[in-house]
Amino acid sequence: MATESTFVMVKPDGVRRGLVGDVISRFERKGLTLDKMRMLTIDEDLASRHYAEHVEKPFFGDLVEFITSGPVVAMQWSGDSAVSVARTLMGVTNPVESAPGTIRGDFGLVITENIVHGSDSPESAERELGLYFS
Ligand code: RTP
Ligand code: MG
Repeated sequence: MATESTFVMVKPDGVRRGLVGDVISRFERKGLTLDKMRMLTIDEDLASRHYAEHVEKPFFGDLVEFITSGPVVAMQWSGDSAVSVARTLMGVTNPVESAPGTIRGDFGLVITENIVHGSDSPESAERELGLYFS
């Protein structure tokens, strides 16, 4: 197993609902290391760069509106296989299908407000960490 860094973000719904501490606690208990953290409100330019892969999707406008709707907590976590471990802790994209015990499975109900973002590959992690921490 290789030590990796990944980008994780508590989305505006997670911040509004007071779930920042719970999200951080789950990553800490798993054994990942919190390297960097900042709170910010994403503007449309950063949202479009973050979600560039979805620019042609029908839900892109709603996605940008949602992700810019309030403060987020952006983080860098590291550890063995951190990218896939973070995705496992989060659960699958649609909270209706996320397993209990995952963040989305325990706290989410609708796909548009799924509490947390995590990079989907080491390449995405490098790109996203660059967007938020350089
Ligand atoms: P994320 O990037 O936010 O961590 O989520 P993800 O990898 O699990 O899912 P992704 O396919 O990258 O989709 C990004 C976000 O877009 C919203 N979405 N809405 N209305 C829809 O059909 C739809 N599909 C995706 C979700 O909020 C998802 O997290
Ligand atoms: Mg994604």
